[in-house]
Amino acid sequence: MNDVKKYQKLEKLKKWRDEVEPIPWYYDGLENLCDRIHPEKQLLQVTDIQELSKDTKLYRFVSARPNKPLAPFRAGQYIGLTVEISGVRTSRPFSLVSSPNQLAYYELGVKRKEGGFVSIYLLDAIKVGDILEATEPLGELYYNRVFHGTDLVFIAGGSGITPFISMLRDISEQNLKLNVWLIFGCLSEDNMLFKDELEDIQTRRSNVRVKYILSEPGPSWDGASGFITKDKILDEIKSIENKFFYIVGNRAMYSFIEGQMKELGVPRHHMIYESYGVPDDVTEVIGWPKDINTSNTVNITIEFLNQGRKVKETFEASCVEPILNSLEREKDLGIIINNGCRSGACALCRTKLVSGKIFMPPEVTMREIDQDYGYIHPCVSYPITDIHIDLTLI
Ligand SMILES: Cc1cc2nc3c(=O)[nH]c(=O)nc-3n(C[C@H](O)[C@H](O)[C@H](O)COP(=O)(O)OP(=O)(O)OC[C@H]3O[C@@H](n4cnc5c(N)ncnc54)[C@H](O)[C@@H]3O)c2cc1C
Ligand code: FES
Repeated sequence: MNDVKKYQKLEKLKKWRDEVEPIPWYYDGLENLCDRIHPEKQLLQVTDIQELSKDTKLYRFVSARPNKPLAPFRAGQYIGLTVEISGVRTSRPFSLVSSPNQLAYYELGVKRKEGGFVSIYLLDAIKVGDILEATEPLGELYYNRVFHGTDLVFIAGGSGITPFISMLRDISEQNLKLNVWLIFGCLSEDNMLFKDELEDIQTRRSNVRVKYILSEPGPSWDGASGFITKDKILDEIKSIENKFFYIVGNRAMYSFIEGQMKELGVPRHHMIYESYGVPDDVTEVIGWPKDINTSNTVNITIEFLNQGRKVKETFEASCVEPILNSLEREKDLGIIINNGCRSGACALCRTKLVSGKIFMPPEVTMREIDQDYGYIHPCVSYPITDIHIDLTLI
């Protein structure tokens, strides 16, 4: 009874305080601002779909919640799109193509990946009017005027052109005094995404130069062909001095360019890279233990909280599939590990490995402290023995 009286007194006091001391304007303003910049999730509605090439489409999205504008972003960032395919809830990151100077819509360019899962679903099943869940804008690939200087080299492979389109739109719209060399590696003439727009920017802006290098050009192509080698890079930019490099493409392209950057002598802190997704075949990655039978399955034991209680489940998984993907396949468990880049870079999926061995591609960098305490990034970790992970330890 005493407690009830105390509570009633406190309630009265609170009411009185609210009347004489309204919540300061900045409190409400800050809350709104945080929510605006870091919404837990965004709901996006497809308003337009255009074909960019025979295997790539451009999607335009608006906010599906009339009172929730799209979150602002920096040119070069990405969002994670979540989909549910035959009961499997999963997501993939896609770079924002649209300009950050308007937030009426986002645009994403999605390329079909042979043998892929989400890209095929997006290209074949998503239509105008559909609503998809997305993360807030994420990622570290953007221009930083304090550290990156004014001479920027963008190296793109295939669909890796998408963040650079957003960055070029930004540079062009804001008339930024930056010198840009874009070196764009494409398969053939049919895969030169955003060609008209790039030509237009190049014509209007003398500080932007675009060089295409086609790996499988047709007979009429008279431009550069083959891979993006150090000599071809140097032909364009003349010297690496005072230049900052941004490299975006699939893992195979990144491994190749990384070697070329070393030969050119580009210091590691003068480049940012983003590699698109997990390796196509992890058994081809340097360091993969060759004595492992790739048709082996392993047991993954996972501990997690269910209605406040710690529970344990074990399921079978392939040793050549990332742990995160295997877990998502176990749709009945309904366990979601928070994730963003799904390529080892953002650390959002950081998870405690209690026992067992995993393989992580050597280019994936982790904080030393995480390594020392046995944390892994399950989005790019392959279980090469039975493993035990604990999702309750963060
Ligand atoms: C920062 C970043 C930005 C990116 N931006 C772009 C972009 O702008 N445009 C673009 O096109 N791509 C982009 N990508 C790549 C993109 O995120 C995907 O990796 C790409 O679309 C391929 O996805 P996918 O699901 O089709 O193929 P994968 O990711 O290779 O999917 C195949 C995998 O899905 C799993 N799988 C298959 N079937 C099932 C099933 N039935 N149940 C459960 N799991 C299954 C398996 O593990 C299989 O290996 C970006 C990547 C990153 C990291
Ligand atoms: S989701 Fe980014 S590191 Fe795993």
